[in-house]
Amino acid sequence: MSFNQNSPTTVSAGAMMTFNINKIRADFPILQTEVNGHPLVYLDNAASTQKPQVVIDSITKYYTEQNSNIHRGVHHLSELATKLYENARKTIAKFISADPKEIIYTRGATESINLVVSTYGRKFIGEGDEIIITEMEHHSNIVPWQMLCEEKGAKLRILRMNDNGEISIDNFKEMLNEKTKFVSIVHISNSLGTINPVKEMIDLTHEAGAVFLLDGAQSIQHVAVDVKALDCDFFVVSGHKLYGPTGIGFLYGKKEFLEAMPPYQGGGDMILSVNFEKTVFNEVPYKFEAGTPNIAGAVGLAEAIKYIDGIGIDKIAAYETELLDYATAVVADIPELRIIGTAANKTSVLSFVLSNVHPHDIGTFLNADGVAIRTGHHCTEPVMHKFKIPATSRASISFYNTKEEIDVFVASVKKVIKMFS
Ligand SMILES: Cc1ncc(COP(=O)(O)O)c(C=O)c1O
Repeated sequence: MSFNQNSPTTVSAGAMMTFNINKIRADFPILQTEVNGHPLVYLDNAASTQKPQVVIDSITKYYTEQNSNIHRGVHHLSELATKLYENARKTIAKFISADPKEIIYTRGATESINLVVSTYGRKFIGEGDEIIITEMEHHSNIVPWQMLCEEKGAKLRILRMNDNGEISIDNFKEMLNEKTKFVSIVHISNSLGTINPVKEMIDLTHEAGAVFLLDGAQSIQHVAVDVKALDCDFFVVSGHKLYGPTGIGFLYGKKEFLEAMPPYQGGGDMILSVNFEKTVFNEVPYKFEAGTPNIAGAVGLAEAIKYIDGIGIDKIAAYETELLDYATAVVADIPELRIIGTAANKTSVLSFVLSNVHPHDIGTFLNADGVAIRTGHHCTEPVMHKFKIPATSRASISFYNTKEEIDVFVASVKKVIKMFS
């Protein structure tokens, strides 16, 4: 998982040999697309991943043969849809070693964090309490906490990073104190690729008597995650970054926390009984799932997880590391290019700036060659402030990418440099 820019890089056939890349690519119909007369090179996977045919088929099948509302129906289709929806919850739970009762469907990582902030946060965090996040958080793990701090008079404390985009455990230890109530940290940074030392941080957080949320939006698709082994209290995921549909994701929460938290939204399905004097809330996880949920999304997400499981997340991790190492080694020969995010422990993200070209121009010219990267602040403006840059260009890798695609990307970057020099 590590790459040292100063050491020579050998790209072994290792993980690549275990992959039938042609077969994998054939599973993703969109990868056959041509853009501006070139084969699509899709390197915007940190923003959203493409969907394998089995996921697309599962959604089509759901709407063609299985669709109905869930939970209260006694007819065939309602029972079928309920079974699919609840089986999908079991698939998700198994994938991260959780209990299905600890999985709450949400729209994605953003909604999962907002759910925790507005239920756990509102109930258990008060004036003078401290919440720790890092300098590399996505805006979705900054803004909800800022809003809570504003409302409650709590304090948001920021764990800074070094010039490689790494945080220090010693600095973290110094920040923890009896006022620390919550720590909310990104597992893998979307703009830098840094893999944070979260197990150590979770243990330290618990020693300090605080609660830990792990933002897995960029980790679950790249590394194996076992929430029980990690012992995080909450874990948040977006389905669309995990080869599943948009509009679905989940929150994992330890049962004792979920039970102590008030509901997120009121409405149908989250109740056991309602009368005008008193409403009795449903048990977890249903207490947090008001209204008709994204049933087709849950079905598609479970199918995506089965697909990933079928390949093996460890194989995926090894292959993606080889691809990132390869890309890092080839761009190291470009003097005008500076990598932003050079952590010793990183994966899948190559963020960079060119000395003479604005990132938006890079993105536009690469698109002319059929290469899709993302340019901007990647919803991590504090990271841009830290590195004193307005934006980066970000190539983000998936297991369906190839070395040949990295070569096309690098050739296109070189063309842009030449054009602007
Ligand atoms: C690290 C991280 N956290 C949270 C999010 C928010 O995800 P979503 O917009 O799918 O809710 C993202 C999205 O890019 C992310 O990269």
